[in-house]
Amino acid sequence: MQLLKDRIRRDGKIKSGDVLKVDSFLNHQMDIKLFVEIGKEFKRRFAGCEINKILTIEASGIGIACIVAQYFDVPVVFAKKSKTKNIAGDVYTTQVESFTHGRTYDVMVSKEFLGAGDKVLLIDDFLANGKALEGLAAIVKDSGAELVGAGIVIEKGFQPGGDRLRAEGIKVESLAIVESMDETTGTICFRGDR
Ligand code: G4P
Ligand code: NA
Ligand code: NA
Repeated sequence: MQLLKDRIRRDGKIKSGDVLKVDSFLNHQMDIKLFVEIGKEFKRRFAGCEINKILTIEASGIGIACIVAQYFDVPVVFAKKSKTKNIAGDVYTTQVESFTHGRTYDVMVSKEFLGAGDKVLLIDDFLANGKALEGLAAIVKDSGAELVGAGIVIEKGFQPGGDRLRAEGIKVESLAIVESMDETTGTICFRGDR
């Protein structure tokens, strides 16, 4: 998605440790006109797919998912993170190990809001090592719902998550795939650029 790539080149900041900061428009301050275009693009990429629910994970996936959901006309469910084990039987839970943040947390979704018969699109802002998305996919599987695919705003293609999930047969659609980035020169290369 050219508009997004241009914006990343203009306003993205490359930090040490292969971190791309995009908090002026994506995950702290949010540019809603850009989100609208993101929503239309996901709708185009998943045209013809039957989807009745969008699943994301708190915190930064939520805002994006809400705008995207308007183009699919479906509700959004967001998985909640918690540091304490929920032993009640009324939730699906899985563990997510974040390399980026160097910790493991439990993620949960109420059984009330996901189950057999649901056709689910996953939405998230970033795909890096893919642990967050894998956790969401595990919850969908556990619930008996069908995983239709995943829509990602920015994938870091030099980290293994996206390619691994595609190899597992998941339809992963990333609007910008960063192939490499150089902190010193500020250069960003996207997959598909030539
Ligand atoms: P991981 O396994 O390496 O931790 O990567 P994963 O793809 O699971 O993403 C984990 C978290 O790290 C996500 O946020 C994701 O948005 C964030 N993240 C990964 N790489 C980058 C990056 O280069 N820049 C930015 N800005 N974020 C990145 P989260 O843990 O779900 O937290 P939240 O921010 O959504 O609350
Ligand atoms: Na996120
Ligand atoms: Na994030």
